Amino acid sequence: MKNITCVEDLRQVAYRKVPRAFYDYADSGSYTESTYRSNVADMEAIKLRQRVLVDVDKRDTSTTILGEKMSVPVVLAPVGLLGMQHGDGEILACRAAHAAGIQFTLSTMSICSIEDVAAAVDRPFWFQLYVIRDRAFMRDLIDRAAAVKCSALVLTVDLQILGQRHKDIRNGLTVPPEIRLKNVIDIATKPAWAWSILKGRRKTFGNLAGHVKGMDNVNSLAEWTAQQFDPTLNWRDIEWVKSIWPGKLILKGILDVEDARIAAESGVDGIVCSNHGGRQLDGAASSISMLPKLADAVGDQLELLFDGGVRTGMDVERAIALGARGCMIGRSYVWGLGAYGEAGVGKTIEIIKKELDVSMALTGVSSIAQIGPNVLLEPPFIQRPVARKVVKIAKGKKRS
Ligand SMILES: Cc1cc2nc3c(=O)[nH]c(=O)nc-3n(C[C@H](O)[C@H](O)[C@H](O)COP(=O)(O)O)c2cc1C
Repeated sequence: MKNITCVEDLRQVAYRKVPRAFYDYADSGSYTESTYRSNVADMEAIKLRQRVLVDVDKRDTSTTILGEKMSVPVVLAPVGLLGMQHGDGEILACRAAHAAGIQFTLSTMSICSIEDVAAAVDRPFWFQLYVIRDRAFMRDLIDRAAAVKCSALVLTVDLQILGQRHKDIRNGLTVPPEIRLKNVIDIATKPAWAWSILKGRRKTFGNLAGHVKGMDNVNSLAEWTAQQFDPTLNWRDIEWVKSIWPGKLILKGILDVEDARIAAESGVDGIVCSNHGGRQLDGAASSISMLPKLADAVGDQLELLFDGGVRTGMDVERAIALGARGCMIGRSYVWGLGAYGEAGVGKTIEIIKKELDVSMALTGVSSIAQIGPNVLLEPPFIQRPVARKVVKIAKGKKRS
């Protein structure tokens, strides 16, 4: 991996190594992909403020998120079908995250099950849950996550119905999946990938197989799942989940100030400002453009996490500056996994951490607590500045 310098390098390797249908599954957004593109474009447009002659000799990128110590304010986001980017992908990603001192979030739609991952790692991880029609099965998933001591439950609330991604339809990655000649030929040209999948523990949705009655193959499970997304999902369901989940609860997929306020009133521990990586409502605002508004509304009432378009350590600094406690990353580590397995995920985290460290130094700050609007050239996306988050570096004042 000598020549891997950035996440874009990992993306290019993943493009060569992972079969097209699964590469495209990750590198796509819904409909016109305008929100997917704007997540990255709006992020890049935020200018950092170059500072000089500040002593930044002793720097520290570590922080805490929901009371857990992290070496860098980054958590691996829940990503479905990770085990199709690389055999045992969920286990490898979780191991890489823990080795790097950060957290991993296992998706409901994973290939390795909750129990597979728990047996393969020695620390708790986070579990992501979709609200599904079959509440008894949902309850069962919550109990399973609690049984292996997952340290947080991330309830995804922006997928009441599934956004359409054109590439998945063209590639036959539909429900149920289609076996197409071009996919078979493509897989034949990716032997390392095929071998890793063959060696992998499972080839189907690990959290569902054997738990949903009569549904044991990929096709029937995929069909069952598609019918399970629940358009009736509403705030009463959050109360119900709160009443049965014993640990920290995070709502993922909040993009609106009003929703953020209701979430804060509902007493959840955290929210993720997110548009599902541009995979759900095409035409929705980029998540970075909504972040300062959410921070202004609820940043002092719960832990505000952020995701969407984080490809560099500079992006992490931008998000922290706009009020996030930490960032989730999705595609950045998916590409690392597809490129080099566990080592590739480790490389993604290492790259982002190094970039954040350099970027902190060149913006004149030494700790995560010192990052605020002070590191931005001008506050973007808001009419009035987020003045209450201004940090006076000279006095070394801590962020709350
Ligand atoms: C391939 C793929 C699968 C995903 N699967 C899930 C999922 O199962 N559950 C979920 O809450 N979010 C899922 N997401 C959304 C991510 O958790 C996260 O919100 C998004 O990837 C962040 O944007 P980024 O990829 O630009 O970092 C998925 C994203 C991708 C790219």
